[in-house]
Amino acid sequence: MAEVLSNENIASDFWLLKVREKSARRPAMGQFYMIRAWDAGPLLSRPVSVFDSGEDTVSFLYRVMGRGTKIISELKAGDSLTLLGPLGRGFSTVSGRTALVGGGAGIAPLYFAARTIRLSGAATTLDIFLGFSGVPVLEESYRLLCDNLVVQSGGFITGAVKAEDYDCMLACGPEPMMKALSEKCRGLPVRLELSLESRMACGVGACLVCSRGTAGGNKKVCKDGPVFAAGEIYGP
Ligand SMILES: Cc1cc2nc3c(=O)[nH]c(=O)nc-3n(C[C@H](O)[C@H](O)[C@H](O)COP(=O)(O)OP(=O)(O)OC[C@H]3O[C@@H](n4cnc5c(N)ncnc54)[C@H](O)[C@@H]3O)c2cc1C
Ligand code: FES
Repeated sequence: MAEVLSNENIASDFWLLKVREKSARRPAMGQFYMIRAWDAGPLLSRPVSVFDSGEDTVSFLYRVMGRGTKIISELKAGDSLTLLGPLGRGFSTVSGRTALVGGGAGIAPLYFAARTIRLSGAATTLDIFLGFSGVPVLEESYRLLCDNLVVQSGGFITGAVKAEDYDCMLACGPEPMMKALSEKCRGLPVRLELSLESRMACGVGACLVCSRGTAGGNKKVCKDGPVFAAGEIYGP
């Protein structure tokens, strides 16, 4: 069991949950945990990406969507919850001019990605593009981690991205956004990786609930992903 350290409503339906998590296996950028804060129902744990991680803490930025995330939002400091993770195949190491592109709750894994990339010194430049349907959140936290931050409320953030300016791009957000980004990158020498969302049950590759067709056949988003090369999902 992990202990809740804080759980704050930071804006509209966005919440930031910080828990003590002492396991020796620390998360990598783009990985997620299955979170459970109830005994009986809902039946399934809920997948949430790592927003940030410290020596013995993990934070999650989440939107309240339904029953599971509503229960998670009611947790108070000192409460317990069950965490399974870190899970999945996260983002690869980047190099050169790098952009991170996120939409809605898809901005969550990009914070930890930005911190990891900054600490490694792997990118020559790091730009972040964040799109929201409503009021933007955590703008200043993201700004501190990059060379240029572009934030947009309404519309598609992909419109602001010049794909030819980058060597590597990591993205997470609604499928139409990621598809539009893939189209922009098609034919260019930019390496685009996408973190996909999917309904999940086990989170560890045992149930096939998250199975999805790719260029390489059916893949499990929880185990083979959630991060995939854009070409695997939308074609070369
Ligand atoms: C690998 C992964 C990482 C994720 N990381 C984050 C994160 O960092 N922050 C965050 O806010 N959310 C994240 N999600 C989405 C999150 O898991 C869902 O919002 C959550 O499971 C909804 O549970 P619920 O019980 O509150 O809603 P439910 O009652 O189950 O559903 C409410 C509504 O949300 C929709 N929904 C439910 N699950 C998903 C899903 N997986 N993708 C798209 N729509 C969904 C349903 O269709 C329904 O309309 C992630 C999902 C995956 C697969
Ligand atoms: S959620 Fe069970 S195989 Fe992916």
